[in-house]
Amino acid sequence: MAKVVSFSNQKGGVGKTTSCVNIAAQIAKKGKKVLMIDMDPQGNATSGLGISKSKMKNTTYDVIIGRCDIKDAIISSNFKNLSVVPANIDLAGAELELYELEEDANFTKIALDSIKDSFDYIFIDCPPSLGMLTVKALSISDGVVIPMQCEFYSLEGMSQLLNTVKKIRSLYNPSLQIVGILLTMYNGRLTLTGQVVAELKKYYADKLFKVPISRTVRISEAPGYGEPICYHDPYGKGSLEYAAVAKELMLRI
Ligand SMILES: Nc1ncnc2c1ncn2[C@@H]1O[C@H](COP(=O)(O)OP(=O)(O)O)[C@@H](O)[C@H]1O
Ligand SMILES: [Mg+2]
Repeated sequence: MAKVVSFSNQKGGVGKTTSCVNIAAQIAKKGKKVLMIDMDPQGNATSGLGISKSKMKNTTYDVIIGRCDIKDAIISSNFKNLSVVPANIDLAGAELELYELEEDANFTKIALDSIKDSFDYIFIDCPPSLGMLTVKALSISDGVVIPMQCEFYSLEGMSQLLNTVKKIRSLYNPSLQIVGILLTMYNGRLTLTGQVVAELKKYYADKLFKVPISRTVRISEAPGYGEPICYHDPYGKGSLEYAAVAKELMLRI
């Protein structure tokens, strides 16, 4: 049975997509069967894996509005053991449609049951908001990974996000677990980094992944080649750090 893990943070540009894609690819490369669901209308995770628009028949949008079964939206990527449910800008419409559909009706979930036996891990790349798409993702997840940068505002965002997790637990998904907080674009030489890490350790010590992800050019250029870092620069710093985080994640959930 697949474990389902969302990558979520309402702030944009904190490394959700980068972490989701690279951890998914790393775990798949090691031999596990992995599905990545792109839940962001920007479709960055889809394009970061080199999936072209022409390859997409059905997308996350079609699944969410019930136009197709999730099985019919899964495509294989160019990478070992890694499948994808792609997304494009259509998904932006879903946010509104979901509000209208569900104002009175019961909250519907994306049905993953039919595919859970086919994968070891299902990773969901969430959009930068706490709207309906994120709520959907968290309500079908076993756990959530929270990527964040070492900045002052990140700490404020964190308590908001944890409140959302609490709400999701009480409304839809009591077993939602916080898998971990992942520091991204890390630069240990900055004073601010040290201050934010100290603050995080005060409140969330047990949640922090042991290894932060450094800011590297190789990580930022990889999506341009449509490649996860473990293929783009397998022995580089970024790849080794994501490998360490992937290992820790598998121990945590
Ligand atoms: N460790 C890193 N080093 C350098 N650039 C990074 C790193 N992680 C992410 N980036 C870059 O930062 C930007 C935002 O990252 P992204 O994963 O798209 O964030 P989000 O999904 O949270 O919006 C992207 O351009 C990405 O390539
Ligand atoms: Mg993103």
